Amino acid sequence: PFGLQREVHAHLKEYLSQKSMSRESFSDKTLSRSIGNSSVTEEGFYEQQEPLTKTSVVMERILKRKSLRIRNQQQDWQESSEGQKMQEFRRSLPAYKEREALLNAISQNQVVVVSGETGCGKTTQLPQYILESEIEAARGAFCSIICTQPRRISAMSVSERVAAERGEKLGESVGYKVRLEGMKGRDTRLLFCTTGILLRRLLVDRNLKGVTHVIVDEIHERGMNEDFLLIVLKDLLPRRPELRLILMSATLNAELFSSYFGGAPTIHIPGFTYPVRTHFLENILEMTGYRLTPYNQIDDYGQEKVWKMQKQALRKRKSQIASAVEDALEVANFDAYSPRTQDSLSCWNPDSIGFNLIEHALCHIVKKERPGAVLVFMTGWDDINSLKDQLQAHPILGDPSRVLLLACHGSMASSEQRLIFDKPEDGVRKIVLATNMAETSITINDVVFVVDCGKAKETSYDALNNTPCLLPSWISKASARQRRGRAGRVQPGECYHLYPKCVYDAFSDYQLPELLRTPLQSLCLQIKSLQLGSISEFLARALQPPEPLSVQNAIEYLKTIGALDENENLTVLGRNLSMLPVEPKLGKMLIYGSIFNCLNPIMTVVAGLSVRDPFLMPFDKKDLAESAKALFSGRTFSDHLALVQAYEGWKEAERQQSGYEYCWRNFLSAQTLKAIDSLRRQFFYLLKDAGLVENNTEACNKWSHDEHLIRAVICAGLFPGICSVVNKEKSISLKTMEDGQVLLYSNSVNAREPKIPYPWLVFNEKVKVNSVFLRDSTAVSDSMLLLFGGHISRGGIDGHLKMLGGYLEFFMKPDLADTYLSLKKELEEQIQQK
Ligand code: CDP
Ligand code: MG
Repeated sequence: PFGLQREVHAHLKEYLSQKSMSRESFSDKTLSRSIGNSSVTEEGFYEQQEPLTKTSVVMERILKRKSLRIRNQQQDWQESSEGQKMQEFRRSLPAYKEREALLNAISQNQVVVVSGETGCGKTTQLPQYILESEIEAARGAFCSIICTQPRRISAMSVSERVAAERGEKLGESVGYKVRLEGMKGRDTRLLFCTTGILLRRLLVDRNLKGVTHVIVDEIHERGMNEDFLLIVLKDLLPRRPELRLILMSATLNAELFSSYFGGAPTIHIPGFTYPVRTHFLENILEMTGYRLTPYNQIDDYGQEKVWKMQKQALRKRKSQIASAVEDALEVANFDAYSPRTQDSLSCWNPDSIGFNLIEHALCHIVKKERPGAVLVFMTGWDDINSLKDQLQAHPILGDPSRVLLLACHGSMASSEQRLIFDKPEDGVRKIVLATNMAETSITINDVVFVVDCGKAKETSYDALNNTPCLLPSWISKASARQRRGRAGRVQPGECYHLYPKCVYDAFSDYQLPELLRTPLQSLCLQIKSLQLGSISEFLARALQPPEPLSVQNAIEYLKTIGALDENENLTVLGRNLSMLPVEPKLGKMLIYGSIFNCLNPIMTVVAGLSVRDPFLMPFDKKDLAESAKALFSGRTFSDHLALVQAYEGWKEAERQQSGYEYCWRNFLSAQTLKAIDSLRRQFFYLLKDAGLVENNTEACNKWSHDEHLIRAVICAGLFPGICSVVNKEKSISLKTMEDGQVLLYSNSVNAREPKIPYPWLVFNEKVKVNSVFLRDSTAVSDSMLLLFGGHISRGGIDGHLKMLGGYLEFFMKPDLADTYLSLKKELEEQIQQK
């Protein structure tokens, strides 16, 4: 095995360094592709170089002439009738009154914090004010303004809007750039991009040469990328004294940011919104004719039994929700209530989003209320889709002559996006189902009604158990206020909070910053690839630094998977991982999948792990569903390989136009399979973008049918998520190093196996309920673990073996440990020879 391992590692190392070399030489080339004294970087930013040479004097003259031409063009547009109308609209925005104050503050201070109500004109106007003032001063061709957005969709929609306000096409003076897409030209002066794109630019251009203004938008959201960018920019400011930094925020905790930047001046844009009438669940039920009846007044015995069961289930689930909310429920004695009639809503359940309740509220609005669009806040894409399906089947809400039903999501196509902003035909009511991105970054003008389910999906992270979870959780008071505010944009509005007032009272004031509630692995990789020094020291400089234990966990994890070496330096694998915007373990699987030319199945597995399980397990048909899944897994002892089979079968069925039937027959979710399909495509582009695969799909799938290889690559990605298998007389005993005895989720194909003929299972996720449960798993052999389960560090395979040795000793695998020891000896001898 040593020879084989050496070969694998040598192969990997050579492959990876070749790939990164070819990428570097590519960016070098693009970097130096000069246009006059300016050049276009890999990211396509326009960049000026220092005016040192003779040609640069000529260039400056050209730029001056260009600046004058830009000024004349703008004057022409502003004098046209359309331009005047636009000017009028822009002057009506609250930001306009502060224009001079803003520009003054920016010219006199390196950092300025701007706050104001959503919709007052921060995002669309402020960058334009800066651009206009530069153009007026005939410096139009000299400036370069970058405005970051937390989401792709806002970068795209805002840039389109700003270009329209300037009477231009996108890609002239205004452009955008998001991952894998962009629209910008040589003369683009104002660029809207995602925060991630600016971070990537910093990778090749640490000083942001040529950039005159950086505007970081929506900082109140406290996203991880934004908090990270602020640390980097804070370090950069002294090196670039002429660079201007503007921070924009919707809510009023501006002091926090101002003090972080040494007391930077704050400008508040006073906004105007119409009053919004607020309804909580109590009033909604009353208003719409449903009354809650105390539980003990229900006389129908059968019914009572059902409520009792519901009540018990509710109490059980309640242990999982925040204790504050629980207290509030106790006060309201809410679970003592249940609806009176059978056709009414099911008992309000603090743990789930009540689709019936939403449907009910929407129906009320459509039937009884004045005209105006409705904005519904949901938790995530899956919820939005399921609700949309349910509403479409509704006699009123699904009637296209009465209701225009739209979904709004971060990664949706731009044609679909535009519909959200358009006015519907007369008599048709627009209903937009959105995630919390519609809270601040997107403004839909005609919204009069807001329906708020009270939750948002957020990643939370428990450093002690080192387990991440993505769960819908209660929003903060600030978010609820923000959601409510969306109803009062154009006229007095109404907001339906679908939860009781007492629950609202228990919300926290602000949401915890993302940096404090998510695993930091990807971020740590970024810090290393941007060469920002020690990870812990760097993160200690954050606005609100994360727990040292979380940081340590992340570093340890990265060492374990081989992305960092013993001294916390980025390994070749780590450098490649930092180029992929996915979780490191999934990135590792993708990289291995492309190296070992089994990309198709691996992309399916990774997409499945990032979306959700497409196997449906309906409560009343669990047996049938489990058998269907077992057929897919065959004798592979792998949930992941079952997924690959199911996906390929579906693709084939789709080709024959029987995709839905196939899903129905096999208890699969067509929607999830579609999501997996589209994610796979994105992965392929990402890998291409990172220089890891060529366009030739055939070559990277040469070994896609080799089940053992796929198993091994899955092992490479999921390690150290590993447990040992001991086949007992009648059952299987599973053990992990951290938890001891563990169990399998009943959905796993391995849960039904009386014996597993492999010594190990690798898994992606474990969840602690009473015992520790493993979700999906794949069986792997000793040699797979030996060859793929560790890391390839710059120091060679020594570290790999050392770490694996720990596992082997722990699990007392003497024969394997022998192999390990002899490998180690051989290695040591080899090192001595060297
Ligand atoms: O950033 P902030 O929330 O302060 O506002 P904004 O995004 O700059 O939007 C200012 C105004 O421009 C909004 O109130 C909308 O009336 C309008 N707008 C629009 O009509 N279409 C867009 N795509 C974006 C903004
Ligand atoms: Mg904005």
